[in-house]
Amino acid sequence: MVGLTVALAGATGVLGRRVATRLRAAGHRVRPLVRQPADAAGLDGIVGDLTAPDSLARWLDGCDVALHLATALRPGADGRIDWARNDALRDLGTAHLLQACARLGVGRVVLQSVAFVQAPSDEAWCRGDEPLADRPFLRSAQRLEQHAAGSGLATGVLRGGLLYGPGTALSQAWAASAQADDWRVPGDGRAFVSLVHVDDMAAAVVAATTAQPFVRDVMAIVDDAPLRWGELLRGLAATAGGGLSPAPAPPPTLPSFRVSNAQARLRLGWAPRHASWRDGVAGEPWARAPPPSPRTTRLDDRRSPSPNAPGALP
Ligand SMILES: NC(=O)c1ccc[n+]([C@@H]2O[C@H](COP(=O)([O-])OP(=O)(O)OC[C@H]3O[C@@H](n4cnc5c(N)ncnc54)[C@H](OP(=O)(O)O)[C@@H]3O)[C@@H](O)[C@H]2O)c1
Repeated sequence: MVGLTVALAGATGVLGRRVATRLRAAGHRVRPLVRQPADAAGLDGIVGDLTAPDSLARWLDGCDVALHLATALRPGADGRIDWARNDALRDLGTAHLLQACARLGVGRVVLQSVAFVQAPSDEAWCRGDEPLADRPFLRSAQRLEQHAAGSGLATGVLRGGLLYGPGTALSQAWAASAQADDWRVPGDGRAFVSLVHVDDMAAAVVAATTAQPFVRDVMAIVDDAPLRWGELLRGLAATAGGGLSPAPAPPPTLPSFRVSNAQARLRLGWAPRHASWRDGVAGEPWARAPPPSPRTTRLDDRRSPSPNAPGALP
């Protein structure tokens, strides 16, 4: 659909910048919400804050769709993440956004959640209808989804996998590991992780924003090949020309999450261009050797085949 006016929160972010570029290239108008006046000039944005409801009307007025791609996970000057600020943004910020959209007649909203809000078990594929993971740090993302479901608006919730690719925190950590030749496996390495390249995430956001008719759904946006942390770290180390450190890192804070993208393939017609991390890191400056091939089918994969294939139903 051409010619939408899109209100974008998170426009200065790693993901938001890519989404704005793609939307404009496709002929849509983008109206960023920015917190700093200096960013407003550069991005042609409106100054405001999702946690300050009075600042939202001028930004949203006359828009067709609103996008919530804001997060507050960048560490502050002391190197720490202010989790309370991030929780407020996901919970109250989302509520303010949806109320303002309802008031101003912005009927469609795309919001970004995380692919690990659900965790069926350590091994099983997560297809989207499993119970929510019971971890306190996930409650604000779960509240975001509850606000969307109860808003009465047409909402599309995209549960993103861990983002990697140029500019992301994960890729910066991998580059630092390559430089130091220090690759540590979290815990026993058996927990699953579901990744998505940031360019594929941006493509999915654009697909959800412009879909005609709008897709009211909750969908995971992850690549085709979730894998165990141990397998990922071993492969990354080999790609950097190094090896695993014998010292383990602390176990992952995230639950084990092995997530299917079948719903997004089906409903959005989206598919990742980077099917696995092997495709996604190929251009990284630290990637010296070609990534090793995936291991051959393991016993647990035969019992639980991948649902991430064109045409596979969740
Ligand atoms: N990183 C991951 O692995 C991952 C995984 C799944 C989902 N996600 C989701 O992906 C989305 C984008 O992540 P990202 O990596 O692009 O984040 P990012 O680079 O840290 O950017 C965050 C953006 O949010 C804006 N922001 C922060 N507080 C705000 C507030 N109170 N009101 C309005 N805007 C505010 C920031 O603006 P300023 O420039 O003013 O700070 C910035 O534009 C988020 O919804 C995040 O939850 C990320």
